[in-house]
Amino acid sequence: MASVNASIFSHFQLFLTKCVVFFTSPISLLFFGICAFVLLIKLISWRRNKKQKPPEMQLPRMKKRDMTMDELKKFDGTGQDGRICIAVNGKIFDVTQGKEFYGAGGPYSVFAGRDASRALSIFSVSKSAIKDDYDDLSDLTSAEMNRILEWELQLTEKYDQIGKLLRPGQEPGDYTDSEEEISEERKDDKLKSQ
Ligand code: HEM
Repeated sequence: MASVNASIFSHFQLFLTKCVVFFTSPISLLFFGICAFVLLIKLISWRRNKKQKPPEMQLPRMKKRDMTMDELKKFDGTGQDGRICIAVNGKIFDVTQGKEFYGAGGPYSVFAGRDASRALSIFSVSKSAIKDDYDDLSDLTSAEMNRILEWELQLTEKYDQIGKLLRPGQEPGDYTDSEEEISEERKDDKLKSQ
């Protein structure tokens, strides 16, 4: 038993010696030195990039308003502030915070500034599924309409609803008494009383 232990120990000692010889050989030291240098350079450039990236500015909340199709088109993310709105089931959502989805190069960029209802109802991101003129969706089946309702619910949970998409000739609603406006007024009153 003692001789077996001694043999294991001597093998282990030999292995250790070989490791030391290998890791301290000039070629190994050169290799590890290069690896460490490359890693260091990468770390420095990563930290520099992180510092240089300006913090993303969050846009202020949009005031509630109804929009025509033409007005909605202006919110396709190419404007100065990059605001993006989409309409689903006659409701307009500010989806700017989902710009990785709807912004240029995003998988759903075709929806930016448009009524996405029909496309969502048939699960398509093709431009042909999006109409330029007002779409009353009257030809859709109840299954397709249900799918739109599900999308509407999903968007309602994530984004602000700005207002309604106006049919041609429809007058915009008056939102001066909306909660946001009231809270703004309260803020103003508070400032005045200080
Ligand atoms: C193979 C096909 C698809 C895959 C793998 C896919 C995958 C995804 C994933 C991973 C998300 C993100 C979920 C989240 O993080 O909240 C998403 C969101 C979404 N997808 Fe798709 N998708 C596909 C096709 C489509 C199609 C065809 C449409 C258009 C009808 C679509 C419309 C959307 C929309 C509207 C969102 C919500 C984005 C948001 O949160 O604002 N997707 N999809």
